[in-house]
Amino acid sequence: MARLDRLLANLGYGGRRDVQALIAGGKVTLDGVALKNSAQKIAVTADLPQHLKIRGVPVDPPAPLVLMMNKPLGVVCSHREDGERIYDLLPRRWQARDPALSSVGRLDKDTSGLILITDDGDFLHRVISPKRHVPKVYRAVLDRPLNGTEGATFAEGALMLEGEEKPLLPAELEVLGEREARLTITEGRYHQVRRMFAAVGNHVTALHRERIGGVALPDDLAPGEHRILSAAQAEEVFDV
Ligand code: URA
Repeated sequence: MARLDRLLANLGYGGRRDVQALIAGGKVTLDGVALKNSAQKIAVTADLPQHLKIRGVPVDPPAPLVLMMNKPLGVVCSHREDGERIYDLLPRRWQARDPALSSVGRLDKDTSGLILITDDGDFLHRVISPKRHVPKVYRAVLDRPLNGTEGATFAEGALMLEGEEKPLLPAELEVLGEREARLTITEGRYHQVRRMFAAVGNHVTALHRERIGGVALPDDLAPGEHRILSAAQAEEVFDV
């Protein structure tokens, strides 16, 4: 249970005063009935938006929230970096949510595709935990033709990236064309895919993430768009 004014403030609808004014103005309804008491306790369930409305519009989904985004090129995942951020592509109000939304790992500015965003720290850590080996699938376009030996090199589990002390775990390469491949990795080292191809004398010119575990980027999710996942859909990350 949460106090109505705190719940709405934590969903980003304004400071305590702002949301108290909304409530006092009869703009907030629960199952069609205006709530006038800011201190009223509300049961916070995943179906809250079906019941709680502001000016007739369903409230945003409460925490824990997991969403997927098709990250466009040129956008950064960090909260702090300069430039357009993935968070700028979400409803503005969501930047004021508490708990805050964070990306589950990161994609480079120059990488597109599937990124998960959540306010659920437990879920985030389970996905990125090195112990879980959640597979991440990338499609890479290369500068030079593949020479045919890369698959075996990546599968061996002995490849050492420059400046690192531990070899990479085995990764799976599927050749899609002379200069195009799908690569599945189960770690998340810095710039890992680009550095793997650099280690075999090639260069990635375009990189796109298609899948994280059992969650694939849907064909109909355009760059910059996001979709909220149900708890069951989010857990499909671990179905591999
Ligand atoms: N590997 C990379 O090189 N970049 C990414 O964004 C993700 C994996």
